Amino acid sequence: MDNQTKIRVAVNGYGVIGKRVAAAIALQEDMTLVGIADIGADWRLRVANRSNIPLFGATTDHVQNMRRAGLAVAGNLDDLIEAADIIVDCTPKGIGAKNSDTYRRLGRQFIVQGGEAHTVTGHSFVAESNYGTALCRPSTRVVSCNTTSIVRTLTALKQAGLLLRARGTLMRRATDPWESDKGGIMNTLVPEPEIPSHQGPDSQSVDPELDLVTMAVKVPETIGHLHYWSVKMTRMASKDEVLQAFRASSRIATVRTVDGLGALNSIKEMMADLGRPHANLYEVALWTDMLRVQDDELFYAYMVDNQAIVIPETIDAIRALGGKTADASVSIAKTNASLGIGDIEAIFNNAAAMDGGSHDK
Ligand SMILES: NC(=O)c1ccc[n+]([C@@H]2O[C@H](COP(=O)([O-])OP(=O)(O)OC[C@H]3O[C@@H](n4cnc5c(N)ncnc54)[C@H](O)[C@@H]3O)[C@@H](O)[C@H]2O)c1
Repeated sequence: MDNQTKIRVAVNGYGVIGKRVAAAIALQEDMTLVGIADIGADWRLRVANRSNIPLFGATTDHVQNMRRAGLAVAGNLDDLIEAADIIVDCTPKGIGAKNSDTYRRLGRQFIVQGGEAHTVTGHSFVAESNYGTALCRPSTRVVSCNTTSIVRTLTALKQAGLLLRARGTLMRRATDPWESDKGGIMNTLVPEPEIPSHQGPDSQSVDPELDLVTMAVKVPETIGHLHYWSVKMTRMASKDEVLQAFRASSRIATVRTVDGLGALNSIKEMMADLGRPHANLYEVALWTDMLRVQDDELFYAYMVDNQAIVIPETIDAIRALGGKTADASVSIAKTNASLGIGDIEAIFNNAAAMDGGSHDK
């Protein structure tokens, strides 16, 4: 694809999500990363400088600070916005809402992340659920890590005609690994003060038809989140039918405790061994040997890599706003191929073929 027809994308905020989004954009044949903006001048921006990603300061003051710190800076945020078709805002909660006024003033499409409220864009996005309604929109919000996982899994059950209602308990990581010297909790568990926790209503901002209730507790670790779900199905179904429904989603990877993947740390280690950047687990990793079906009731658990799960969704959201790829499955397939999504299933399908047995018993 020639440069003229590629979507020019800017990333504002080069933190946990921003740097992963920027790296994923650089892998897309139909997108160009025109630059990143931030307020910092620390090692993360030095690494970006080394990768020759054009760096911009959020304001003229930030540009000066960055230059004083010896960083190569291409301009300020307005300059970056001018150079882009779409801005992906990955700044901390609340700042994206403020920045949205600037994006609108300069007439650019934009995407905010899950820390912002639905009202900032009036549209909340999960590719497998509502890609089509984001086509050519001025803006959308990629929902949070937990909400993305909930919508993915419940959409898979809904599309198979199995979902009546769902109730889930979320164990949430306390802080991100690179910031664990600054905060987090130790030797305690902190329940969210309200039931339902916000992820249930947030999932309904993507799909109002979902009947769900969530409860959440913060736990003293940094690797990812662990969800337990109890689902009332529309009818009695077999375990195989349920697994088929989950496997119809390319972004739910089925794993087994008996393969040594019995905990969050071992799954994360496998992502590192697969050579994924930052050991990213982009999929929901759902345990099939733990999953139980009892008449019309379904029980399962899965892992969410909070730092990674929203990255493929953000890439699809860019394509949806860009409007040239109308078909969700085309965008999802392109994104998956660029990020290696599908390699977990491929490894275990090969193992199942070798021992001639089903992977799920
Ligand atoms: N961390 C996660 O696991 C996670 C998962 C899903 C969604 N999100 C959401 O993604 C968004 C970003 O979160 P994060 O964890 O990447 O945050 P982060 O703190 O890791 O990164 C934010 C970056 O933005 C920069 N920044 C701060 N103010 C800025 C400004 N005014 N202009 C430009 N840059 C600025 C910071 O220096 C930092 O580099 C939030 O909405 C958050 O809720 C985070």
